[in-house]
Amino acid sequence: MKHRRLLVLAGVVGAVALVAFLSVAAAGSKKATHAQAAAIPAPRVPHAAAIRKKYGGQKITFVGDSVGNGHVRDTKLAKRFSKDTGIKVSVVPHPAASDQSYAQLARAFSSKSSSIDVAMIDVVWPGAFAPYLVNLKPKLGKQAKLHLGSIVANDTIKGKLVAMPWFGDYGILYYRTDLLKKYGYSAPPKTWADLFKMAKKIQDGERKDNPNFAGFVFQGNAYEGLTCNALEWIASAGGGHIIDNGKVTIDNAKARTILDAMRVQIGKVTPQGVTTYQEDQTEHAFDNGDAAFARNWPYQYGIGAGAGSKVKGKFNVTVLPHGSTGGSVGTVGGWQLAVSKFSKHKAAAIEFVRYMTSPAVEKFDAITNSNVPTIVSVAKNKAVVKANPYLKPAIASVPRVTRPAKFLGTKYNEASKVVYQGINQILTGSPASQVLPQIKSKLQQIMK
Ligand code: GLC
Repeated sequence: MKHRRLLVLAGVVGAVALVAFLSVAAAGSKKATHAQAAAIPAPRVPHAAAIRKKYGGQKITFVGDSVGNGHVRDTKLAKRFSKDTGIKVSVVPHPAASDQSYAQLARAFSSKSSSIDVAMIDVVWPGAFAPYLVNLKPKLGKQAKLHLGSIVANDTIKGKLVAMPWFGDYGILYYRTDLLKKYGYSAPPKTWADLFKMAKKIQDGERKDNPNFAGFVFQGNAYEGLTCNALEWIASAGGGHIIDNGKVTIDNAKARTILDAMRVQIGKVTPQGVTTYQEDQTEHAFDNGDAAFARNWPYQYGIGAGAGSKVKGKFNVTVLPHGSTGGSVGTVGGWQLAVSKFSKHKAAAIEFVRYMTSPAVEKFDAITNSNVPTIVSVAKNKAVVKANPYLKPAIASVPRVTRPAKFLGTKYNEASKVVYQGINQILTGSPASQVLPQIKSKLQQIMK
C-alpha cells in the first residue's frame, strides 16, 4: 500500500517526461575514458549463438550509470553484447544523484511504462521497488551463488531475487602522498581532527601557488551522497547509525559534536562550495590536483590512476578517519541490475543481466573502472587486486555501516531526504543542536 501511494504521487509526471528526462541526462553525460579502459576489450558473451537464435533482433533499454566513466563502460559492454547476440541495447545514463534516479524509476514504474527493460538499482532500493521487478531466481539463481551472500540477501525480497549484485561500494579516503611528504607527514590521518589539522597546513602552503587548492573535499550537496557521508562521520564518532533497532538515534551528543566539527571546517579547509559537491565534483577537484584529501567511492581510484589525471602516481587510499571516541567505518553502497515487470522483452533483458553480472564482466569493470566486485573469486583475483589497492584487507575489512533502509522500506528515499537536507543545513551554518531534533521528529513522523 505504502509504495503505491508514493509511486502514484510520483507518477503524475508520467512516461513522456521520463523519455525527455532520459535524453537530457544522455546529452550531459561524461565522455572521459582512461588508458586502461581503452586497452582492454569487453568480454565476449558466453553461449551467444543460442541467445541470438531465441532473442536476436529484440531491442531493450538499459538505464545505466552516469558517474565517473560508468557510461563509457556501459556503452562498451552493451555494444559487445549486441554484436554477439543480436539483441540491441540502448544505454541511457540515469541522473547522477541516486535519489533523483530513484524518483525517475518510481515515475516509470507507477505509470507501468515499458520504456525501461533493465535498470541499475541502488543497494537501498530493492525493498521499495520489489513489486515492480522480475524474480530473477529461476534463471539467474545459479549465477547469484557466485556473489557475496550478504548482497544477494539484500536483493532478495520475500524469497524473490529482485536484482542481481553488480558492483559494491564503500567510502574510502584518498590522500596525496607527495604532499604529505612535502609537509612532513609520514602517514595519513587517523582521526577527523588530524585530518583537519593536516588539511589546513597543506592548504596554507599550496594556496601560495594554487588559489583553488583545498584541504578536503567530499559529497556535501543535499542529496543521497550526503546521507552516506554523514553516516560515516556519525558512526565513526560512536554516534550510532541514524536509526538503530527501529529507533531514531541521530539526535545525540556524539553526533552533534562531529557534525559541528564538520560545520566549522566548511570554507576553512574545504572549498565553500563543497556543500554543492556530489561524486563527480569531488573527483574532479582531487584529480585536478586541487585537494589534499577526498572522501569518495572506489571508482575514483581508476580515474585518478588513469592517463588524464594530474595526480597519477601521487596519491593513495586508506580507511576514513574516525572521531575521538569511535573507529573507522565505510558506508555500504553499490548497485544491482534489475528487470522491470513492465518490460516487453523480459527474457532478452535477463540475458543482458546475466552477461553484465558475470565473473568476466565484473573482472573487466574492476580492472578498467576500479569498481568493487561482488563476486568473491573476482575480488581475490591477482590482476583485480593489483588494480584496486582498496581491496587489500587493511582497507576492505573496515567495519561497514548501512543506511537505515531496512527500517524504512518504501519510505527510505523520503527519510533520507530529511537527513541530507538537515545535514546540509548544518554544513551551511546551523548548529547541530538546532537541526538534529527536527530531523529526529520528521523521521519519527515518517516511521509512524
Ligand atoms: C554510490 C553508492 C550508492 C549511493 C550513492 C550516493 O553510487 O554506490 O549506494 O547511494 O553513491 O551518492
